Amino acid sequence: MKTVVAAAQLQEALDRLASQIDERYGGNKLTLIGLLLGSVVFLADLVRRIKTPFDLEMVSSRQTTESPGRPGPLVINPDVLAPVVEGRDVLVVKDIFDTGETLWELVPQLDDLGANRVHTVVLLAKEGRCRVPLQADIKAFDIPDVFVVGYGMDYLGRYRNLPYVAALDPQELTGEAGA
Ligand code: IMP
Ligand code: MG
Repeated sequence: MKTVVAAAQLQEALDRLASQIDERYGGNKLTLIGLLLGSVVFLADLVRRIKTPFDLEMVSSRQTTESPGRPGPLVINPDVLAPVVEGRDVLVVKDIFDTGETLWELVPQLDDLGANRVHTVVLLAKEGRCRVPLQADIKAFDIPDVFVVGYGMDYLGRYRNLPYVAALDPQELTGEAGA
């Protein structure tokens, strides 16, 4: 395992991202939508630095066991989301922008629920992997095309508790299940 983003770099990035968010949304009613499961650690750290008042909801894009690192089906509840999305500035909070397919699917659904504007913030973006005509609006780090874990991100449900982001060695990527 090799460190890709150290704990101290994460802390600096969180301050930077929170400032950018406050600058962008200061004064407006904001709704944050976190993507389960991988974003929970990032989200928890980020929200404690944001000064702009916000409502918070979660959407699940839990991956299937067959393909770790591939987006799973989106589970969204329009009845829950509509009241905090309609007429609001929405900021989707996501761990890693890989193919972009999850956000490509989610953003139009939030538009359909009447969002004023929908932007996205990601901690990481993988270089050379994007398959959709969409980019994250706010991001902390570009990383090479390696499978990373830690700081909420898993492989086979493991490593979410690492306080830094690390790349797994090829021999560590041998299992079957992911979450
Ligand atoms: P998307 O391909 O941009 O839609 O991202 C799908 C999801 O796959 C991300 O939110 C992560 O949960 C997961 N994922 C993609 N790459 C990695 C990785 O390197 N490590 C852990 N999870 C990943
Ligand atoms: Mg995962």
